[in-house]
Amino acid sequence: MTNSIITLKNQPDSQDLIINPPSKGITLQGKIQIPGDKSISHRALMLGAISEGITTIQGILLGEDPQSTASCFRAMGAEISPLNTTEVTIKGMGLGNLQEPQDVLNAGNSGTTIRLMLGLLASHNNRFFAVTGDNSLRSRPMSRVVKPLQEMGAHIWGRKQNTLAPLAIAGKQLKPIHYHSPIASAQVKSCILLGGLMVDGKTTVTEPALSRDHSERMLQAFGAELEIDGDTNSVTLIGQPHLQGQQVVVPGDISSAAFWLIAGCIVPDSELYIENVGINPTRTGILEVLEMMNADISLENQRVIAGEPIADLRVKSCQLQGCEIGGSLIPRLIDEIPILAVAAVFAQGITTIKDAAELRVKESDRLAAIASGLNALGAKVNELPDGLEITGGGNLEGIEVDSFKDHRIAMSLAIAGLRGKNATTIHHAESAAISYPDFVETLQSIIKV
Ligand code: S3P
Repeated sequence: MTNSIITLKNQPDSQDLIINPPSKGITLQGKIQIPGDKSISHRALMLGAISEGITTIQGILLGEDPQSTASCFRAMGAEISPLNTTEVTIKGMGLGNLQEPQDVLNAGNSGTTIRLMLGLLASHNNRFFAVTGDNSLRSRPMSRVVKPLQEMGAHIWGRKQNTLAPLAIAGKQLKPIHYHSPIASAQVKSCILLGGLMVDGKTTVTEPALSRDHSERMLQAFGAELEIDGDTNSVTLIGQPHLQGQQVVVPGDISSAAFWLIAGCIVPDSELYIENVGINPTRTGILEVLEMMNADISLENQRVIAGEPIADLRVKSCQLQGCEIGGSLIPRLIDEIPILAVAAVFAQGITTIKDAAELRVKESDRLAAIASGLNALGAKVNELPDGLEITGGGNLEGIEVDSFKDHRIAMSLAIAGLRGKNATTIHHAESAAISYPDFVETLQSIIKV
């Protein structure tokens, strides 16, 4: 795909994305439909597979990560229609009925797939499973889920003292626990809750700050009983519920909308209207930070669909201001920090991001990856052990940068490139397909010269 501003170039082992804005500049204009929420898509596939009867999912993300979840659950007997249209049907197997797969389950690049699935596998008594993933996933920490599952009685083995995939699991009847998680992680919380589904008794997870609550909402929608204590960030699942297939409607992913929100802010004279964005309060840290930064964003047509709040977002370009981000905000915008760093490059003053050491164990070390990409482009980004310090007002040049095969880094650098003086080439831009297969097409459709 080529026009004078956006070019995709196939290299032997990479697809390069080249962003070459004309010297007189561009604006961004138009209506954007974003892909379905990745977190909700994974959960809908998993709960559909383990419930009784039929689940239909409307608006599912057709990215590579949900494809990984679907293929793992197909390998364990769930009938899931092909993920080639955004409407998917699942013939559920009923709780406790996942079959032993004939081969190693492959979660690809997807931390949510492997960690959530692990809770289900560990609790399937007398069945044996092996799980793995790509190079990135095989280097990401699994002890955060292996340890609590072992406390529940799970039998799990893996490389480096059971901390890395591939993992082998001998399913057991698990017992109830109250787990105090040292990190605010929806993947950890959800793994334990899913592990607790077949437990005789109550499984409780307390986390240091509230992480996204899509599992809680969807488990309740499918028929599970949960007790939620907002004061202590605790959630309790009552074991052995009857789970019944549902009609799930997946809202657009605010983590994908974030690229357009920031693009709309930083490219002069732009106005974008982003339709159908999920604004679950456990995900809207990005909107709060952009408000602190003085962004011009309005929420229109607020509504609730299938238990999730949704709005259309309008963004107009404006001068952003630097700000400080940390504490309990971090889990509410964890995936948006790379693109927020891009916003900070064009803000006035200094932006400091702290308490975000978790970014070092995402699909790449995202603190190092975004700092090196933005600095190569001419920005002033200082890496901190747990965050970033970004001096705004930067003039970006444009150069070759690496995405480290990380979808969110690739897309963040592409947005930064819209303000580059020269062409920016992003290596391994194909990684965008993990969460946003149509990213380049959408970008192309909103650029006006
Ligand atoms: C996710 C939780 C977050 C997030 C990831 C998706 C989920 O990970 O970064 O992209 O769907 O539960 P952590 O639980 O590791 O914070």
